[in-house]
Amino acid sequence: MTKVLHRNMGAPPPEAVRSEGCRIFDRAGKAYIDASGGAAVSCLGHGHPRVIDALREAIGRLQYVHTGSFTHSAQEELAEVLVEDAPANISHAFFVSSGSEAVESALKLARQYFLEIGEPKRRHFIARRQSYHGNTLGALAVGGNALRRSSYQPLLMKASHISPCYAYRDKLDGESLEAYGLRVANELQREILSLGPESVAGFIAEPVVGATLGAAEPAPGYFRRIREICDQYGVLLIADEIMCGGGRTGDMYSMEAEGAAADIITIAKGLGGGYQPIGAMLLSNKIAEAIRTGSGSFMHGHTYLGHPLACSAALAVQKVIREENLLTAVRVQGARLMNGLKQALGQHPNVGDIRGRGLLIGLEFVKNRETKTPFDPSLKLNQIIKKEAMERGVMVYPMPGTIDGINGDHIVLAPPFIASDSEIDEIVSAVAGAIPGALERVLGC
Ligand SMILES: Cc1ncc(COP(=O)(O)O)c(C=O)c1O
Repeated sequence: MTKVLHRNMGAPPPEAVRSEGCRIFDRAGKAYIDASGGAAVSCLGHGHPRVIDALREAIGRLQYVHTGSFTHSAQEELAEVLVEDAPANISHAFFVSSGSEAVESALKLARQYFLEIGEPKRRHFIARRQSYHGNTLGALAVGGNALRRSSYQPLLMKASHISPCYAYRDKLDGESLEAYGLRVANELQREILSLGPESVAGFIAEPVVGATLGAAEPAPGYFRRIREICDQYGVLLIADEIMCGGGRTGDMYSMEAEGAAADIITIAKGLGGGYQPIGAMLLSNKIAEAIRTGSGSFMHGHTYLGHPLACSAALAVQKVIREENLLTAVRVQGARLMNGLKQALGQHPNVGDIRGRGLLIGLEFVKNRETKTPFDPSLKLNQIIKKEAMERGVMVYPMPGTIDGINGDHIVLAPPFIASDSEIDEIVSAVAGAIPGALERVLGC
């Protein structure tokens, strides 16, 4: 009997014993294509020789220092690389060990910024329903993932949630995509006014919503309007790029394509590509200056801030992405994956939507394509599709509750940026086989 508290105590997962390129191998020798990069993490796949070499070199040189006493070259260089490619207003990076820690840092930094500039009443955060910002209590409180919040509701700080930008279900008939985007963006203004603009600190959103909505892109102009509203009321815009950033959508930061710059950006997942646990918060010069000329230090920290091995792994990953022109690969292979899925499943009666950007793609399942009625959640269709895909040697990322935290099923695909044409084609055919396989299992049809 295992002593590990596995995610599903009733069914411990198979044991992974090694991984290489796009594949993970279990103890029985079965190979799985990592078509979801775990949870959109493994952007370089597994066993990348440049990252392994960098880690070998790093562990022999410097294992740990406390950032209250020392800095080190990996942290300094990584900050340079990230700031260099970030929007022009971004000036500094703060390195943590996970996405949730990056979001906690962003919320605290926003609060401290307003203390530094003499606006102490600003304490409210606004976010969106059907979003995810992490599982620690602050991040969970701003997150709008109803399923993950439900058990912990009494422990969560107060936060407001406006509508997501989820055109597949919420755009009205006859409404243009742009008009829809504007309509839902304007909810931010209404919420700021109802809370009192002098009390609002920040608005946090995933530019492309990852796991919770299944790779839902914003409507054109949505984030430009959000930026306008934030500017009008002095509210900070926090872009949670933990899943969609780092090149996954074909841009280093997915907000770039929206023509809006955030004041704070959170990244993780693809930052270290799974070679080490690492996340980061990037901040604008305006915020950095307020702290520098104010109290002089950010009142927040953890033991493993800027960990040398984590920073060394992330630095190697980031260099590979840039030097091997992998953003182009993301766009090319993303288009191949999207086209393949649309060809194979675009007319399937139970595939309601295939959406996404670059190598972040979601498939939403419906009982009826015309009415968009979801399947009964008790069927756990998303889990059965994962199981069927695994049997076919492909890993996908399943999620229930697409619509409201309870109803709806989707899967996310987020393969490594190094996936070859044939690996992309294998993913398409396994997914195309897993869906009818799962439907047969749950419905007997
Ligand atoms: C958008 C987003 N924010 C935050 C997080 C939390 O990151 P972590 O699981 O590393 O704490 C995730 C993880 O899935 C995420 O997708």
